Amino acid sequence: MTQHVDVLVLGAGAAGLMAARTAGRRGRTVLLLDHAEQAGAKILISGGGRCNFTNRDCVAERFFSDNPAFCRSALARYTPADFLAEIEAAGIAWHHKTLGQLFCDGPARQIVDMLLAGCAEAGVSLRLGARVGPVQRGGAHGAGRFLVETDAGAVSATSLVLASGGLSIPKLGATGLAYEVARRMGLALTALRPALVGLRLEAAALARLAGLAGVSLAVEAMAGNGARRRGFREAMLFTHRGLSGPAILQASSCWREGEAIRVNLLPDATPGVLLAAKRARPRAGLARVLGEHMPQRLADAMLPREMASRPVGELRDRQLSDLLAELQAMEFRPDASEGYAKAEVTLGGVDTRALSSRTLEACRVPGLHVVGEAVDVTGWLGGYNFQWAWSSGVAAGMAA
Ligand code: FDA
Repeated sequence: MTQHVDVLVLGAGAAGLMAARTAGRRGRTVLLLDHAEQAGAKILISGGGRCNFTNRDCVAERFFSDNPAFCRSALARYTPADFLAEIEAAGIAWHHKTLGQLFCDGPARQIVDMLLAGCAEAGVSLRLGARVGPVQRGGAHGAGRFLVETDAGAVSATSLVLASGGLSIPKLGATGLAYEVARRMGLALTALRPALVGLRLEAAALARLAGLAGVSLAVEAMAGNGARRRGFREAMLFTHRGLSGPAILQASSCWREGEAIRVNLLPDATPGVLLAAKRARPRAGLARVLGEHMPQRLADAMLPREMASRPVGELRDRQLSDLLAELQAMEFRPDASEGYAKAEVTLGGVDTRALSSRTLEACRVPGLHVVGEAVDVTGWLGGYNFQWAWSSGVAAGMAA
């Protein structure tokens, strides 16, 4: 028996829940399918369990895409303020953390519950633990309709919303389903790569940084060449395998294999900071002086042994200014990222040039919509990716 619905949504993550709820509220019959046993798995673990659900400063410039203006329309139609209004109406307490990032005060589950309740009220049928098989369009079941095989029988739909996300964290259910279906329907993909991910350093570089794992500090990390080049002022963390922390996760979206990342380890230091210490406290040891501006373990590791214990007053002005310049432009040359197993998102996706920016519908395949992370729109760290999922889900749900 084939089940007939108006809208079939594949993937009950952030974007799929939003698209299904929006279409259901318009009176469409909606079936929302996911192979996972629970909806919104990434929402549940996001933001350390508190979900950084949006960012107040959600401008197109905070997203990477081969088509940078594409995200504007959907983000303008359903804004961070719109999602925040929903959070408040649902009685979910929230707070601003830093850099415009909004988090739940309590568990992220509240957001999943809010979206699931909205779907139920809108009459959306939700099927979890569902296996999705081949997807076709046209043929015997009706011209222009989509036919999707599932382990519980075939489903025929007028609109198909691909909301199955990207490749990041397969353990949480990520697969390439959206990419495969899109490609089979004739849509192009841009290059895919893990992003918002830690970067590994080769053994020789790691040996130099031995003992620093766990050290964290505020830095400015600069990565990428040409138009891709960006600097991020946030915390960086040394790990057993390389570099991580928000500054590096952000930089990973701009970094490409073979390129160096330039890190300013003293972004707030004034040019004369060491010279001023030399004048004021000439007998203080250099390592100690430096340790007042960065974690002591890092200061010790960064100084040549012959300099570390010397009183700052014994060093020439030139030596001190050269040292400062070096610490403000350290080059790290990662040899790989931690990959999809650890990446928060997939950079790249379905090429937006084949999609309507208003409805996320494929221009050449009427009724096919692609939303969320599956699209070539990837946000910075800080709530941008969820806002894209909410906004693109609403845009598709309004039209599907
Ligand atoms: P999402 O991945 O959420 O959902 C896709 C759904 O499709 C899943 O439920 C999956 O099971 C299902 N699916 C996949 N393949 C399928 C198949 N073959 N058959 C059936 N179903 C299938 N962003 C942010 O803005 N703020 C934050 O705090 C965080 N934090 C964060 C932490 C961690 C650890 C990760 C991994 C990611 C984040 N993110 C984030 C990124 C954010 O989670 C991500 O951008 C969105 O979840 C993307 O939403 P989607 O709905 O597009 O995909």
